[in-house]
Amino acid sequence: ENDILKNLPLKGKKVLITAGPTYEALDPVRFIGNHSSGKMGYAIAEEAAKLGAEVTLVSGPVCIKLEHDFVKVIRVTSAEEMYQAAHQYFPSSDIAILSAAVADYRPADVSSQKIKKKDDDLVLHLTKTKDILKSLGEIKKQQFLVGFALETQNEEENAKSKLKKKNLDLIVLNSLRDKGAGFKSDTNKVTLISKDNKVLPFPVKPKSEVAQDILDYIIEKTHA
Ligand code: CTP
Ligand code: CA
Repeated sequence: ENDILKNLPLKGKKVLITAGPTYEALDPVRFIGNHSSGKMGYAIAEEAAKLGAEVTLVSGPVCIKLEHDFVKVIRVTSAEEMYQAAHQYFPSSDIAILSAAVADYRPADVSSQKIKKKDDDLVLHLTKTKDILKSLGEIKKQQFLVGFALETQNEEENAKSKLKKKNLDLIVLNSLRDKGAGFKSDTNKVTLISKDNKVLPFPVKPKSEVAQDILDYIIEKTHA
């Protein structure tokens, strides 16, 4: 084996990544969103590209500049748009890593005009969005499918149940309890849980190194 190929273990592999939050519109000027910075997903995209992969990054609204030129970025806003884009690229992918913080609910009705303030309380009717990860698990063929889990209680148990319910090969459990982990941070603490329920905890690290750990694991499992 020559060294160049060894250093580019994802050469010829197509990797689909989702990242960032989604914004669910209420009216032309308002939305429901979350604090996801997209940093973890963008770090995975960068590292995968460095390892030779052909990366498609489906990104919710974030303000991050990618340093690597070889990442195709598809910008989306809502969960529905992210669902459409993910399904467009998934069939031809070898690996899919869904790190986006997708809204679980969206306003049932989007007002075409700005909602006016009234004397009464405003009650919102929210309806469920599609679970992108679960829907990909249902149509999965050759793809190695990776999900994230953000838990604040019964972390391992909940992550394992998501892994199973969504037909994943690997789930990355995000620990919010630890210092130096979470949304805005440049560092993260994760635990990898595989299909066979093997649990692999990692220490707090920069997100770029966490991305490398995740990709190393996938490369080993897929013999890429
Ligand atoms: N996910 C997704 N589409 C959704 C919701 C979640 O693709 N509509 C993906 C996320 O990108 C993540 C995984 O599912 O990879 C788990 O997301 P998480 O919010 O932790 O779990 P949920 O299944 O949404 O359950 P809950 O929020 O109730 O814990
Ligand atoms: Ca959720």
